[in-house]
Amino acid sequence: MRLTAEEEAMLSGVRGPAVQRAMDGLVQLGRAFGAAEMVPIGYAHVHAGMALYLHDVELMEELADLGARMAVPASVNIANADTVNWAQTGAPEKLARLQQRAATAQHRLGASCSFTCTPYWAGHWPTWNTHMTSIESTVTIFCNSVLGARSNRDGFFAVYAAIAGRYPKFGYHLDENRRGTHRVHVSASPCVTSDWSALGYFVGRQVGSGVPVFEGPAFSRRPSLDDLDALGAALATSGGVALFIVPGVTPPFTTVADAFGGTLPPVTIDVGEREISQIYAELCNAPDEQFDLVHLGCPHASFEEMKLYAEMLADKKIARGVELWITTSRAVRTMASEAGIVSVLEASGAKIISDTCPISCHFARTVSPDPALEVSPPRLRSVVLDSAKQAKYVRDMIQCATLFTGTSEAVETALSGRFVPRRIHAVS
Ligand code: F3S
Repeated sequence: MRLTAEEEAMLSGVRGPAVQRAMDGLVQLGRAFGAAEMVPIGYAHVHAGMALYLHDVELMEELADLGARMAVPASVNIANADTVNWAQTGAPEKLARLQQRAATAQHRLGASCSFTCTPYWAGHWPTWNTHMTSIESTVTIFCNSVLGARSNRDGFFAVYAAIAGRYPKFGYHLDENRRGTHRVHVSASPCVTSDWSALGYFVGRQVGSGVPVFEGPAFSRRPSLDDLDALGAALATSGGVALFIVPGVTPPFTTVADAFGGTLPPVTIDVGEREISQIYAELCNAPDEQFDLVHLGCPHASFEEMKLYAEMLADKKIARGVELWITTSRAVRTMASEAGIVSVLEASGAKIISDTCPISCHFARTVSPDPALEVSPPRLRSVVLDSAKQAKYVRDMIQCATLFTGTSEAVETALSGRFVPRRIHAVS
């Protein structure tokens, strides 16, 4: 791999041990993927330092002790605990304190301690053609597909890229990989955000790590940012999708032919109402429709979604014994609080949780936390949710059943205490 004189100097330790370590890791990554050179990056969404693993937090502290600093604007991914209101999730205080230690390390590194999977709702908004890195697949696909930035699905290397300000040029950083591979005609009419999530879940499974290009009547109405966020999160979950193309939305593509480099291939996937309904049915597997938790806010809710929840829950009380979690970033929570939205939601009995989500918090049964943390995940029968992504991970990581439905139906479930399945809404 060709390195510039400055990059060679970084690799030889001229800019200190942290930058040297970061460059060494990135060079190895680049060689493994056949990158010809590095590119300067303009933004990074990095690993939080996960409190369930003491070593993980210590690693972030070690980097800060080595003098590492973020070379580019950096936001921080979701964490293992709500760092302020941890008690409302039943998290052990030791876990929250450890997550706060990770936050201190992130501050020393110069990262914006956003602790969210939707940093764009918290002000991190890379522009078209910005090379970037992200540890979170939801962020990668949103930034690639809606903002036109250039990102791979990264792991811990995102931290190294943020410290070095460089990334090896391969994958979605190259023009030739930013082309459609599957033409997807959507004849269904997704009209609420959970329908876009179901659409993404269905298509992700079909295309694997391909690049779906969407068309059809569903796109005669411009999807909202929340719809696009839900679509991308689900595509990145059931498949390995990092980029989808909606002509007219995804820069720079204005037509379906553009997205395929000028030629129009035949339609490879057709998605009708039957396929959307199939996903709702598949992600409802609680035998008796009994549930322990209703969850909204996957990916972490935007301000618009918080407003929507408040409209649905104003002057109402959730049913006795029902737990309703709304997860969002601390930044959006602050905006919603100042707008009077949080008090409306809390008056209904909902819990507003920041920094984490059901599958990222201590509920996960498939992780082995440090025994000193005294974490004991609760046994849940099922979770009601409006996100296909969350449904997959609740099954895999909390190992309980799911009841996937629309947002308004999930709210009705919380208010009545009885599961309300998805209704087919009319397009407005
Ligand atoms: Fe975010 Fe958790 Fe969903 S990390 S995308 S709220 S599963």
